[in-house]
Amino acid sequence: MTMQANHREFFKALVRNPRRISALAPSSRSLAAAMIAQIPIDARRIIELGPGTGAFTQTMLESGISAEGIDLVELDRSLSAFLSARFSGVRVHCARAEDIGTLFSGPVDAVVSG
Ligand SMILES: C[S@@+](CC[C@H](N)C(=O)[O-])C[C@H]1O[C@@H](n2cnc3c(N)ncnc32)[C@H](O)[C@@H]1O
Repeated sequence: MTMQANHREFFKALVRNPRRISALAPSSRSLAAAMIAQIPIDARRIIELGPGTGAFTQTMLESGISAEGIDLVELDRSLSAFLSARFSGVRVHCARAEDIGTLFSGPVDAVVSG
């Protein structure tokens, strides 16, 4: 997956719904690294809210977090499809972040959102 492909997908989502996306581009690799560094080292189950094109997701996977431990909650239908295609093994929920209380049960080690 090239950076250009992520940016193109992000921009298309921005044009579709500027208010919902509220950013001009996906988070940079350095921001993603700074965010993911805050996740406890022993975290196994992580929920990410509003992953967009998956800048943080990619960094979580690169840091050794297993795909099966990650749940993504993304409201935009096209971005959800993009994430499913990009990250095999990661669960993608096309849903509202506000509904996580009904979407998930059991313990969660960290919630990430940016
Ligand atoms: C500013 S973008 C950030 C994307 C990504 N986290 C990043 O840092 O590159 C916000 C993302 O949140 C999603 N979003 C906005 N409102 C949401 C909601 N209520 N529930 C789930 N996702 C939402 C948007 O579709 C978009 O993908």
